[in-house]
Amino acid sequence: MPILGGMSDFSGHTIIVTGAASGIGRATATLLASRGAYIVGVDKNDAVEDLIDEIRVGGGSGTAIRGDLTDPGIIRATVERAVDHGGQLDLVNNAGVMDRFQGAAAVSDEVVNRSFAINLFAPFNMVREVLPHMIAAKKGAIVIVGAEASFRGGASGVADTMAKHGLAGLAKNTAYTYAKQGVRTNLIGPGSVSTHLASGFDPLSINPDEGMDAISPVHQASIRTAEPEELASVIAFLLSDAASYINGATIPVDGGWQAG
Ligand SMILES: NC(=O)c1ccc[n+]([C@@H]2O[C@H](COP(=O)([O-])OP(=O)(O)OC[C@H]3O[C@@H](n4cnc5c(N)ncnc54)[C@H](O)[C@@H]3O)[C@@H](O)[C@H]2O)c1
Repeated sequence: MPILGGMSDFSGHTIIVTGAASGIGRATATLLASRGAYIVGVDKNDAVEDLIDEIRVGGGSGTAIRGDLTDPGIIRATVERAVDHGGQLDLVNNAGVMDRFQGAAAVSDEVVNRSFAINLFAPFNMVREVLPHMIAAKKGAIVIVGAEASFRGGASGVADTMAKHGLAGLAKNTAYTYAKQGVRTNLIGPGSVSTHLASGFDPLSINPDEGMDAISPVHQASIRTAEPEELASVIAFLLSDAASYINGATIPVDGGWQAG
């Protein structure tokens, strides 16, 4: 892959971006498309179709899949669409939701099951589905979007913290197990990013009146809120050959929050 002054060219790459309708996923899909990648954007929100329209208007290319990633059929359909297009298959496992900032004594099964289904099992299923194709091609890069809650206990509720820690395990095990087959897997842990994550897309998303007190000292220590593009550029770097020796890393991208 040519590296153009630090700006990798993704021509010939077909990159699946989950949660592409909004926030970090949208910024990442837009950036990768501008560098030549064919984007397979998947999201439960139909704004993913607008994103692909925008990419095409901008001279890029891609396809949209509207569906819920907790449905294994959507995962299979997404990977099938990407493989049918051809090129080097890469994956950005980004879609996710927040919990309600509750600890183990307070959280409901519903919140835990939802967090695990979307934040852990769907990314795992996606990794499992892309791996045979990457192994056969002897190449492929995977970036998993974790969270500050992939590293520490006070950044989210117990549901999200368990699921996002699980993603770090998924990244490390996949990195180690498939390194010799040419597949690299890394995880980034965003700090606070200006997206729609907390805006209440559905009834089980964050309720700021619940639990926030417990985690607010940790959040008050956050340095600043980032724009989604500041995460997209790191994801693009990790997908690129400029990061060819980075495998199994779990990287806070939080402006220094975790360092404090
Ligand atoms: N924004 C932050 O401060 C922050 C902090 C840490 C981690 N993250 C992580 O970044 C990732 C992206 O979040 P964001 O901040 O861009 O939020 P966002 O809400 O703007 O985007 C998330 C996207 O995922 C999609 N999605 C959610 N559940 C889905 C499902 N079941 N099937 C298909 N699509 C689904 C949503 O429709 C949405 O378009 C998430 O994994 C989140 O946990 C974000």
